[in-house]
Amino acid sequence: MSRQVDLILKGGTVVNQDGTGVRDIAVDRGRIVAVGDLAGIVAAEVRDCRKLHILPGVIDSQVHFREPGPTHKEDLETGSRAAVAGGVTVVFEMPNTKPTTTSAAALADKVARAKNRMFCDFAFYVGGTRENISDIPQFEKLEGSAGIKVFAGSSTGDLLVDDDAGLDQIIARLSRRAAFHSEDEFRLLDRVGHQVAGDAASHPVWRDVEAAVLCTTRLCMIARKHGKRIHILHVSTADELPLLAQYRDVATVEVTPHHLTLSAEDYARLGTKLQMNPPVRDKLHREGLWRAIRSGLVDVLGSDHAPHTLEEKAKPYPQSPSGMTGVQTLVPVMLTHVNQGRLTLERFVDLTSHGPQRIFGLSRKGRIAEGYDADFTIVDLSRSETIRDSWIESRSKWTPYDGERVTGWPVGTFIRGTCAMWQGEILGQATGQPAQFTESLQPEQTS
Ligand code: DOR
Repeated sequence: MSRQVDLILKGGTVVNQDGTGVRDIAVDRGRIVAVGDLAGIVAAEVRDCRKLHILPGVIDSQVHFREPGPTHKEDLETGSRAAVAGGVTVVFEMPNTKPTTTSAAALADKVARAKNRMFCDFAFYVGGTRENISDIPQFEKLEGSAGIKVFAGSSTGDLLVDDDAGLDQIIARLSRRAAFHSEDEFRLLDRVGHQVAGDAASHPVWRDVEAAVLCTTRLCMIARKHGKRIHILHVSTADELPLLAQYRDVATVEVTPHHLTLSAEDYARLGTKLQMNPPVRDKLHREGLWRAIRSGLVDVLGSDHAPHTLEEKAKPYPQSPSGMTGVQTLVPVMLTHVNQGRLTLERFVDLTSHGPQRIFGLSRKGRIAEGYDADFTIVDLSRSETIRDSWIESRSKWTPYDGERVTGWPVGTFIRGTCAMWQGEILGQATGQPAQFTESLQPEQTS
């Protein structure tokens, strides 16, 4: 007797723990039920994936979606439309909203807003502050919590824990991995005079390499002192890398597509559009980050999608806010690097699926394997396109890659078996649900 399932993805080249090869995938009730030989399995829907690569769903573990608060830049719906348009299936969203996500109530509010309104699955970081230190163990266990995020250097918004005593108290209480914006606030304050009015190219002179190195050193030392796990977000300097290599027991590393793709030379062309914290730096740092991709030091890619409107970005530096969109362009920009031979497709999957699954302990995500969620990023590796602002789903409607030719394009996004995007069209109902983590499984959702 044949077995009936919801969906078969047929003839695609699957990249997973078995390597890369043509395999069929059977999906039923949102989960992968078989991979490879599907003899005896029939499906309500068969999707032809010949000539396409099927990757485990891309997990972007750093985005800013602005809701609640400055939703004229973005909201959970528009940000998640951008995610699925770009082939991203799960996002971890940051706490520098208004109000900040620094209480159980604020987290519950975000989760309620997001369920079945976001197009992708999600988790929200809770901001660690001096005021909520005693609640940290509780925050890590809540539904939809990605764990704790700390701004050790100030960026957009006013979340900040700059001193060793504050960081020490937060890190001491962690049980999950916590994420850090690592720029030394004291040095940033000292060097603010290096900002040149009207010249965004002075941004990396102000927020210099030493500011990042100092802060990452402090965080690594405190983490090892307490035996706790930290995640250094958007590492931007070659100088932090040897240090991070010495702290692999406690520290994991994120880099961003913009730090791997753009460089200080681009300030002349992009001006404040390139302004980001930590800054895009000169090419020597970019080369260092690529070496760390190749050596295995980098654990994950995050887009740090940080939308601001073009009007806001057009203010003269330094009144201009730091941040650029990125969640929708992560896949095509990085696949272009794959096509240019800078990393393998398998390393891309390691950075965007296996890596986040491994370091954050995601449950049922990040692999194309029996019993896992049927989250897929389906790409056409040979398709060339020109990225345009008009393609961008973010409410801020722009990208630093406008006009850039890329090769390698997301053509399908599946979230727990539901097709959220196919050939550029965002389909159907938003079905987003909180991602689950093995260290904080929610009892009623574990079936
Ligand atoms: O450039 C940035 N913008 N870096 C951050 O850390 C925050 C972000 C934002 O929220 O705009």
